[in-house]
Amino acid sequence: NKQANIALMPGDGIGVEVMAEAERVLTFLRDQDDLPLSWEVLDWPSTAWHQQHGQMMPDDAMDQVRRYDALLLGALGDPGPLSEPDRYCLPDGISLAPLLRFRKGLDLWACERPARLLPGAPRYLADPRAADIDMLVIRENSEGEYVNQGGRLGQGTPHEVATQLEVFTRRGTERLIRHAFRAARLRLEHHDEKRSFYCSEKGQAPAQVCLITKRNAQPAWGELYTEVFAEVAKEFPEIGLRHELVDAACMKFVQCPWEFDVVVASNLHGDILTDLAAVLSGGLGLAPSCNINPDSRESPALFEPTHGSAPDIAGQGKANPAAMLLTAAMMLTYLGHSSSAERLRNAVAADLLASEGQVRSCREVTAGILEHMQNQA
Ligand code: NAD
Ligand code: IPM
Ligand code: MN
Repeated sequence: NKQANIALMPGDGIGVEVMAEAERVLTFLRDQDDLPLSWEVLDWPSTAWHQQHGQMMPDDAMDQVRRYDALLLGALGDPGPLSEPDRYCLPDGISLAPLLRFRKGLDLWACERPARLLPGAPRYLADPRAADIDMLVIRENSEGEYVNQGGRLGQGTPHEVATQLEVFTRRGTERLIRHAFRAARLRLEHHDEKRSFYCSEKGQAPAQVCLITKRNAQPAWGELYTEVFAEVAKEFPEIGLRHELVDAACMKFVQCPWEFDVVVASNLHGDILTDLAAVLSGGLGLAPSCNINPDSRESPALFEPTHGSAPDIAGQGKANPAAMLLTAAMMLTYLGHSSSAERLRNAVAADLLASEGQVRSCREVTAGILEHMQNQA
């Protein structure tokens, strides 16, 4: 494995807090496992940087980030509470723009968000089968509802019309769906008998890709997705096929989430479904995420937890760093350090079990995880 240089971008709110913990853990793993890793902590993109410079990041930010092997981002966004009108804050349209620019500008067209309920994690579903939730949501990350084309006509007038265009390309759809089938193929060997049992009861295939659309109301892209899905599926005869309309999918995520395997969704549907999937698997405090280009390593991949900057708990030491640490584990795997990644994931899992029900600070959770890693050595 060659030397990798990473950019750590804490961002705003709890992003800063959980990034400090990620750095502690990365330092530990680098030293213990002799990892050829180095990193730089960037103070942009962030609202703090905006306060000094009038923008979220430097003009040459895209050139700068391209020099790294991977990017780890905390979270962005500091809309500010209504109760503190004097605090420097920004509308989300400004503070979140860098994130969308990284995804698009670095062509990181796939977003992977695994949802697996670890023993000891907070459980929001009473059904015992919820212990077997293990799905992977793959979200389109470069187009669709997020192209940000449109605008407001007659702003402020009674006749105002706002338009927000959605763009879905065949190329973007095909690469996304093929990636979802490949991911399902990679997961095949990990399926256990319980999943087969649950699925056979419902006539579902245990290894499956579930396509999400809203083709009853949005037929143009819904039909494009459906058609491409059927074509690509022919290359993967061992994988079961399923389709759910997004509203019914939300219902079934809550009712029988253990029946889902790989789920493939558009940018916006994927965004919404992954907050829901996060809650099913212990909450946003445990939900990792990565933005990748599965076909190319030309640009660095971007790793960030699914959660945001959580202004409601920022500055109080209450954030759970586990989502960020599991995200760092995804990054380590991407960089070729899968045994260190496994070590970190095992420690997060062991710590969850050992600390069930305890209320701990961000630092205390990391301390617990570090202790488990020490003991594994
Ligand atoms: P959020 O994910 O920040 O928070 C939602 C809820 O989950 C809050 O109650 C929060 O306290 C809780 N939560 C989130 N992460 C947690 C953690 N690690 N530990 C414990 N609790 C956690 O979503 P929001 O409140 O809708 O958005 C806040 C800001 O973050 C907005 O500006 C939004 O645009 C932005 N945002 C940024 C990203 C990103 O940078 N990737 C992602 C989502 C939202
Ligand atoms: C996420 C976030 C972003 C998204 C926002 C902050 C633009 O919610 O990464 O899930 O919608 O993609
Ligand atoms: Mn989101």
